[in-house]
Amino acid sequence: MQYDVKDAGLAEKGRLRIEWAARSMPVLKQIRERFVKEQPLKGVTLAACLHVTTETASLAATLKAGGANVFLCASNPLSTQDDVAASLAVHDQIPVFAIKGEDTATYYKHIHAVLDANPHITMDDGADLVSTIHSERKDLLKTVIGGTEETTTGVIRLRAMAADGVLGYPIVAVNDAGTKHLFDNRYGTGQSTIDGMIRATNRLLAGSTFVVCGYGWCGRGVAMRANGLGAKVVVTEVDPLRALEAVMDGYQVMPIAQAAQVGDFFCTVTGDINVIRAEHFQAMKDGAIVANSGHFNVELDLEGLAKLSTARRDIRDFVEEFTLPNGNCVYVLGEGRLVNLAAAEGHPSSVMDMSFANQALCAAYMKRNAGSLKNTVYGVPQDIDAEVARLKLASLGVTIDTLTAEQEKYLNSWDMGT
Ligand code: ADE
Repeated sequence: MQYDVKDAGLAEKGRLRIEWAARSMPVLKQIRERFVKEQPLKGVTLAACLHVTTETASLAATLKAGGANVFLCASNPLSTQDDVAASLAVHDQIPVFAIKGEDTATYYKHIHAVLDANPHITMDDGADLVSTIHSERKDLLKTVIGGTEETTTGVIRLRAMAADGVLGYPIVAVNDAGTKHLFDNRYGTGQSTIDGMIRATNRLLAGSTFVVCGYGWCGRGVAMRANGLGAKVVVTEVDPLRALEAVMDGYQVMPIAQAAQVGDFFCTVTGDINVIRAEHFQAMKDGAIVANSGHFNVELDLEGLAKLSTARRDIRDFVEEFTLPNGNCVYVLGEGRLVNLAAAEGHPSSVMDMSFANQALCAAYMKRNAGSLKNTVYGVPQDIDAEVARLKLASLGVTIDTLTAEQEKYLNSWDMGT
């Protein structure tokens, strides 16, 4: 079996960390037990391009338990946990191609390595498998039956492909499940982004001004947690509704040109390009700390910053200092890559439990419905979303009410007024 990991000797450490994470993933555990019996992915070759973390390890093992032949590569050059990659290769015999810090050429070499397996199903976090298949590996379109997509950025890319009529196979947008984005994007990104920024800098948030660029589900989570640690939160937005929501949530809202002058910490979570540009870096206070938690490293104009800077140096792990012509320094975390995975360990397991339960069930759904879906982007079937919520509640020991017959009748009627 071929694989490419940093050091196979890290496998034992990885195994223990995977075991620790799995304790907080009861929903995926139940699905795995069911998969062992039902073999819903029997005969399926599945190529996954995901952040190679302890949580992804449980997903990969679940897919394999369901009968899939799983191949795994990283969905970001800086998010791989090398001990996890080693354990998956050594203990689970899963061909893994992922090394933390790999350069761009290796990153794409690894994507091609999993595509060489001729997958029937692709599982993406950011749509790099789909995009590579459609640009460089069109031959694979003959055998792929479908794919799933984990993240907002990937879903946007794939919907653009569907709108242009170029999407060559059906995709289920796992991100669209309520049990995914309402929890993973909000509570997962919220906690892990702050975790990454604190681990990288060991700075105090209390009393600081924390600028959050973008008030989608991730931005809402980051703002909520920064606020919870005592920071004064400033939000920048382009969408009037979201901006209004941020105002009513109690935050200051202003354009980035203004926010640049007041922030101590900055975090972009917009999914768009060049959100913080050279003129904004130039306006920042000495010592400003800048990070990105959006999927791609395009939200900070680091080229512009580099051109502008008179000096740069690594000052500690994941912290690079840029000296500006006015003598001020700004500090960029994790090369502008998603700080929660670059400088910390990504979302906590209990939230990935739901995201990856959706992934596993949607892969099985894709196999069951092979041939009957169109080449477009589908939401997660309602029954899958509801089942994940039910299983998670049960795992938490939470029970809820059910509608009485009378209540059900009332909700289905139109003639019962005052
Ligand atoms: N995306 C964000 N956090 C993650 C994690 N812990 N594992 C896999 N993908 C993630």
